[in-house]
Amino acid sequence: MDAVICMALIELQNIYFQYPNCQKVLEGVNFSLDDGEKIGLLGGNGAGKTTLFHLILGLLVPDQGRVSIFGGYCGTETDFRKIRPRIGLLFQDPDDQLFCPSVIEDVAFGPLNMGMAHADARRRAVNTLESLGIRHLMDRVPYHLSGGEKRLVSVAAVLSMRPEVLLLDEPTTGLDQNMTDRLIGVLHEYPAKAWIVISHDQRLIDGLTEKNYLLDCGRVVSTS
Ligand SMILES: Nc1ncnc2c1ncn2[C@@H]1O[C@H](COP(=O)(O)OP(=O)(O)OP(=O)(O)O)[C@@H](O)[C@H]1O
Ligand SMILES: [Mg+2]
Repeated sequence: MDAVICMALIELQNIYFQYPNCQKVLEGVNFSLDDGEKIGLLGGNGAGKTTLFHLILGLLVPDQGRVSIFGGYCGTETDFRKIRPRIGLLFQDPDDQLFCPSVIEDVAFGPLNMGMAHADARRRAVNTLESLGIRHLMDRVPYHLSGGEKRLVSVAAVLSMRPEVLLLDEPTTGLDQNMTDRLIGVLHEYPAKAWIVISHDQRLIDGLTEKNYLLDCGRVVSTS
């Protein structure tokens, strides 16, 4: 029988990180995300969860350690540029995600940026908004949306790029129960290879993840 070689989609080896002139945030993180894994990343406020997501995508650079994505070592901005379109990051703060004058432009931005024709990008954006039940927001100014509406538009902006892996940083912040349930349904329909969800919302964690990790004292430990 042929040997099956499992390649991690994301692998962090011995990651250390601290912000300039601040205390250490990550102190020897080892973590991997395999194909098919749906993971919850838990941890108290300030534990370093958001920081970890930013390190995975090269938005921050580790002081020490190795980041490998889709089996390849990522050490330079050029390396990260290649993998970013394949990993969808939902920022914790929607204002970091939304910057266009209208919702439809924000949701079409990713597909356009990836080279899709204008009409196709717009169609995909509309479909994605529709799947989340927020098509009626398409001509609104993102800045003037409510917190929950901004959150949903941010999710649409991520999903419209059809990334293979999702990194969702507190996706239900500001969402009511109905919208939380709808989001769980939409994500279950979405053909992701794997995802990591950061959340303090137990209902979301129960609905979306099969295995949970805790970020505590600068390290990632398994909880289940
Ligand atoms: N740009 C920054 N400059 C300096 N310190 C920062 C910066 N961003 C975050 N920190 C600090 O790094 C630590 C980890 O922050 P991070 O945002 O990763 O935590 P978190 O686990 O995502 O928390 P939360 O659950 O509140 O979102 C915190 O102590 C935070 O104050
Ligand atoms: Mg955070």
